[in-house]
Amino acid sequence: MTDFRTGLGWDNHRLAPGRVLILAGVEIPHETGFEAHSDGDILLHAVTDALLGAVALGDIGMHFPDTDPAWKGASSDRFVRHALALVREQGYRLSNVDSTVILERPKLKDYRPTIRASLAALVELPLDRVNVKFKTSEKVGPVGEQRSAEAQAIVTILRDNSE
Ligand code: C5P
Ligand code: MG
Repeated sequence: MTDFRTGLGWDNHRLAPGRVLILAGVEIPHETGFEAHSDGDILLHAVTDALLGAVALGDIGMHFPDTDPAWKGASSDRFVRHALALVREQGYRLSNVDSTVILERPKLKDYRPTIRASLAALVELPLDRVNVKFKTSEKVGPVGEQRSAEAQAIVTILRDNSE
């Protein structure tokens, strides 16, 4: 019998001039970037919460409080690695990751192969188990007005039970 679970993650950050716009560790040239305590990588934060959610271990702020100076400017791949280690500690393996980044500008599709490959390498999955989707917010709301961006992620994890 295979025990499978899913986990859902969501994140957003404000966009501000002079900051880095980074998605799955890939820096995207743009006049604004994420205002955040860490590097603000919304995609990796959403993936981290999805992994934690799948094993019912709370959320990213429980594991890495943004009041802790240890995480100031932290590279978000550390959060994903930590969450993935917790998944594996429970005997699960990651099956797939799907995600959506909602960002009005710039167009991200030219960066898709790089972002996808970076995320796949980080979660140690082949490319055909990792998907990254992009959407605008149709010029509506804070995302549409280019004041913020959002990311969503969902993961499935599997564990083979002997009984
Ligand atoms: O939001 P909308 O439906 O108009 O997006 C259409 C397509 O544009 C998306 O499917 C995606 O491929 C691309 N896109 C992009 N970069 C963005 C937003 C959307 O490449 N920031
Ligand atoms: Mg549309």
